[in-house]
Amino acid sequence: MGLMSTTSKFEPDYDRKAELKSFDETKTGVKGLVDSGITHIPRIFHRPPSPENTIIEPSHSIPNLATIDMQGIDKDLIKRKEVIKNIKDAFESWGMFQIVNHGISNTILDEIINGVKRFHDQDTDVKKHWYIRDNSVEQRRVVYNSSFDLYTAPVANWRDTFIVTMAPNPPQPHELPPICRDILIEYSKQVLKLGERVLQLVSEGLGLDVDHLTKMGCAEGVLLVGHYYPPCPQPELAIGTPNHKDHGFITILLQDHIGGLQVFFQNQWIDVPPIPGALVVNAGDLLQLITNGKFVSAKHKVVAKNIGPRISVASSFSTGLLPSSKVFEPIKELLSEDNGAKYRCATAKELMCHYRGKGPDGKFALSLYEI
Ligand code: OGA
Ligand code: NI
Repeated sequence: MGLMSTTSKFEPDYDRKAELKSFDETKTGVKGLVDSGITHIPRIFHRPPSPENTIIEPSHSIPNLATIDMQGIDKDLIKRKEVIKNIKDAFESWGMFQIVNHGISNTILDEIINGVKRFHDQDTDVKKHWYIRDNSVEQRRVVYNSSFDLYTAPVANWRDTFIVTMAPNPPQPHELPPICRDILIEYSKQVLKLGERVLQLVSEGLGLDVDHLTKMGCAEGVLLVGHYYPPCPQPELAIGTPNHKDHGFITILLQDHIGGLQVFFQNQWIDVPPIPGALVVNAGDLLQLITNGKFVSAKHKVVAKNIGPRISVASSFSTGLLPSSKVFEPIKELLSEDNGAKYRCATAKELMCHYRGKGPDGKFALSLYEI
């Protein structure tokens, strides 16, 4: 954030910088535009022409993203083995799966969705205090804005977001927005525990000790990201979240019932259907790096819709922009003579800085670390 290296070959024929700035200065985000009653979206939100926007003809059989049932895996060894195998298969191919019976109750899931909605719905004068867009984001516990890469990305996102650093060093209650404070604390506690469990299964799926990934620090940091996608009057022109890969180890994503999340698999965009009580788990670039490419980070996006708002809560397992000297490299146990390291080492911060940022050749961030 603020350090993004996104480049765009597309040159707009208007003073885009000025329009971005006036949108930014409202500090009320996309929701502010919708609340003001616009029927045509400003051109900063128009998706530029790109091959990524071309519609790929769906194949006859559309593959389904796996839904993995975690019920009973702590007691039933056979069930546990099966789940580990399913997770391994999903992370090797899609980089994503859904989980049910994961231990977080529907009440908690509903409450965090409602808490994120309340944050975005609250009085604009209160909400504006949390709005920030400068280099001090690195020191801030809570960052609220619209398109964290507003000035560098080729298109502004049709969504508003707040990000809270929940780990390491859990926040003091007074640092959090009062309107959703209690549920932020409770949900992040539970999601951290679940993330550790998932990372244990992932470790075993790699043939490593159960605690290998957590001992490496994969669950040391958690960023909780609360998205609000307002209904869009011209959804065909806009994008909720552009095509990207997450930078961290894993992301545990909760989406509400609206839908719109898609994952790229076998050369086509596949819907990730909202399932009540389910959580989406996806691999990020740091996991791809430490597994030497055995597990792949999922390419995904969120399309804009004329219904909404759509709320989602992404819990990214990473220390993000926090200063950290910890460097990650391909796990030695996974390398062999015919499988040498494919990536150079990187810190979480380095990868986050390139998050969605594509190099001059339009490639994704992790390619910058390829050997
Ligand atoms: C993200 C993300 C998807 C969503 O925050 O990285 O991909 O459904 N979010 O909001
Ligand atoms: Ni993502």
